[in-house]
Amino acid sequence: GVASKGDYRHFMLKEIFEQPKVINAALEGRLGEHSVLAESFGPDAQALLANTRQIHIIACGTSYHAGLVARYWLERYAGVPVQVEVASEFRYRHPVVPEGTLFVTLSQSGETADTLAALRFAKRLGYIGSLAICNVPGSSLVRESDLALMTRAGPEIGVASTKAFTTQLVALMLLTLALDKTLGKDARDSDGTKHADIVAALKTLPDICRQVLALDADIEALSQAFAEKHHALFLGRGAHFPIALEGALKLKEISYIHAEGYPAGELKHGPLALVDSEMPVISVAPNDDLLGKLKSNLQEVRARGGQLFVFADENVGIDDTEDDVCVLHLPHVHEALAPLLYTLPLQLLSYHVAVLKGTDVDQPRNLAKSVTVE
Ligand code: G6P
Repeated sequence: GVASKGDYRHFMLKEIFEQPKVINAALEGRLGEHSVLAESFGPDAQALLANTRQIHIIACGTSYHAGLVARYWLERYAGVPVQVEVASEFRYRHPVVPEGTLFVTLSQSGETADTLAALRFAKRLGYIGSLAICNVPGSSLVRESDLALMTRAGPEIGVASTKAFTTQLVALMLLTLALDKTLGKDARDSDGTKHADIVAALKTLPDICRQVLALDADIEALSQAFAEKHHALFLGRGAHFPIALEGALKLKEISYIHAEGYPAGELKHGPLALVDSEMPVISVAPNDDLLGKLKSNLQEVRARGGQLFVFADENVGIDDTEDDVCVLHLPHVHEALAPLLYTLPLQLLSYHVAVLKGTDVDQPRNLAKSVTVE
């Protein structure tokens, strides 16, 4: 039937709140007790995954950011080398494809012109096969790929992608676990992360997401600080660097505030020059091995009079004892899944800033839900 907003003021808000449910749907029937079920990728998947020596991921927009997160996951937890590129660049390069490379496209719609053209171009380049991670069954991308994994987010109406992104991340974690299992490289032994622990954490993820969405009123209160600003900087490290990029993209798309995402360690190589009291700096601080580094990057911002907003793990000891730092605590989550969880407060922040600014949240100016012409 025709999608309805129900009690929500905008589709985007409704779709943000649907995430626990659709993440659950994306996992349904795909996890065994301790590992991912290889059948999830279709009957022909096993042979293709077993021959995969590296992966090229191609996508546009928010889907590209999901690909960037997946690089951290696939290399760390499955030991597979990964390159990620936007489709509009890839399709006009002269890429060199190493033997045993799997071509992966990510797309909410499955109809994005550049991504589809990249897939068609890739067929001439000697890849071992193609996998589409997509939200629309029967879309062009799905029909033209060797394998498909559906993200099951349901129809997404808001132009700014939310639930389609987080379910792509779930699908990409399933791919990571499937490759780890199939290739048996035991990349997990090098850092002590157990495949089974990630599987267990995935099962609790919808509930943890619910707890984060319950922070909505706090995030709405915080959004006031942004309504009059012209610029914002998003910082993250490791797998949270792409989450910073995605946070910045959301804010740009719907509130029209200029925003940039930066890897926190690059701050000193340029953007620090822009930091002053008029430049809010938003950072995500999960409990991972880069936390110490991130904390010192945040000190650099404070020392320049920057206004800091930090989404931090409740256990990491980042608190807002000072007036120039505003901290919102998130429940603890397995490190591997933190990028998924930390996406949620950034979505809500952009949403509330856009509402304050009175923009057309679901249909931002100049943008289209699906860009089917080049
Ligand atoms: C458009 C949309 C974005 C989306 C991008 C890629 O720009 O406005 O929200 O991320 O296309 O779309 P896809 O359907 O390929 O994920």
